[in-house]
Amino acid sequence: MRKHFYLLFITGIAIILIACSNTESKEKPTLKEAFKNKFLIGAALNTGEISGKDTAGLRILATHFNSIVAENCMKSEVIHPLEDQFNFTLSDQFVDLGEKQDMFIIGHALIWHSQLSPWFCVDENGENVSADVLKERMKTHINTIVGRYKGRIKGWDVVNEAILEDGSYRKSKFYEILGEEFIPLAFQYAQEADPDAELYYNDYNEWYPGRRETVTRLIRTLKERGIRIDAIGMQGHLGMDSPTLEEYEETILAYNKEGVNVMVTEFDLSILPFPKAGIGADLSANFDYQKELNPYTEGVPASIQEAWNARMLSFFRLFIKHADKISRVTMWGITDQDSWKNDFPVRGRKDYPLLFDRDNQEKPVVQMIINEAKQ
Ligand code: G3I
Repeated sequence: MRKHFYLLFITGIAIILIACSNTESKEKPTLKEAFKNKFLIGAALNTGEISGKDTAGLRILATHFNSIVAENCMKSEVIHPLEDQFNFTLSDQFVDLGEKQDMFIIGHALIWHSQLSPWFCVDENGENVSADVLKERMKTHINTIVGRYKGRIKGWDVVNEAILEDGSYRKSKFYEILGEEFIPLAFQYAQEADPDAELYYNDYNEWYPGRRETVTRLIRTLKERGIRIDAIGMQGHLGMDSPTLEEYEETILAYNKEGVNVMVTEFDLSILPFPKAGIGADLSANFDYQKELNPYTEGVPASIQEAWNARMLSFFRLFIKHADKISRVTMWGITDQDSWKNDFPVRGRKDYPLLFDRDNQEKPVVQMIINEAKQ
């Protein structure tokens, strides 16, 4: 009798626990479920997550996201530090992690003027190499990296940030040596290295008409020459005042008209004041620390938080409205603690730009976004 009672008691507890866990999952829908039929929802991964140390971050990743991008470990200075030396330690771990979790894996970034390996464009005397030498180096770089992850990395930021707000080309080493041609070449090499991978051009502040028009021309040029470009990455490094929703939307529509997908890449919404307008992700911008530029060290006042929530929500509303044109939305980090915005464009600030807080808790806006997606 006692034994029976004990058994009944245990079964009862088990039923309650199962019911609770069901209620829990019912109460807490996830971002990836909400956007299942709309677009991929991704996050950039840093070393802590890739190496497995940041277990809390990884739990959030597994719960809410279905795509990952390498925040830093595939940049040329990390992955190809010397001409005859590649370093795949972290990138291999990144790809393994993505596969284990069934993520849509994105490589970032094959050709970028910043975080560029010092040897890449110059000879032993520091002089620019010839066009032919640079082409060969680009080809080897792209072939080796894309080839290594062929069939595993599903999409590549082939060229990153090559065009300026006024529509002119950035005067990078690649441009100095090869002119505009370095972009079609990079796409051609990537296409040859993995014909099935998606190929992207990625940039910030694309709501500036000059930049948008040149990117549009670039899409046309590549297509006319039979070189594939699948999507444009619109980095979403936003501030509280800029851009307007209309500006962002105009660019989504403009790219869609050219027959490519749009991806919202590198999304974060800084809550802090900007020392100057229009900085975007121009890494050369740097400002001295001032207390007034770091007003929320003890937490964010309710009214400011509400304004941030509303702006974050309105951007997701925009993405949902254009879900037929947008293939992926990727957050540039998982928690506020991870964000590059804590140090940019002023070092040592406390920013709150992402969907999960410093205690690895989801912010209230997450469920607001999910509700929006359901409507
Ligand atoms: O890993 C080193 C570490 O060994 C060293 O001790 C430390 C000292 O500062 O630096 C560490 O490297 C830093 C790296 O982030 C990893 O934390 C670099 O200094 C720092 O410059 C680098 O910043 C990254 C930045 O790109 C430049 O590569 C940011 O994390 C990353 O979020 C940011 O991402 C870019 C995108 O790739 C392109 N679009 C703009 C976006 C934001 O700038």
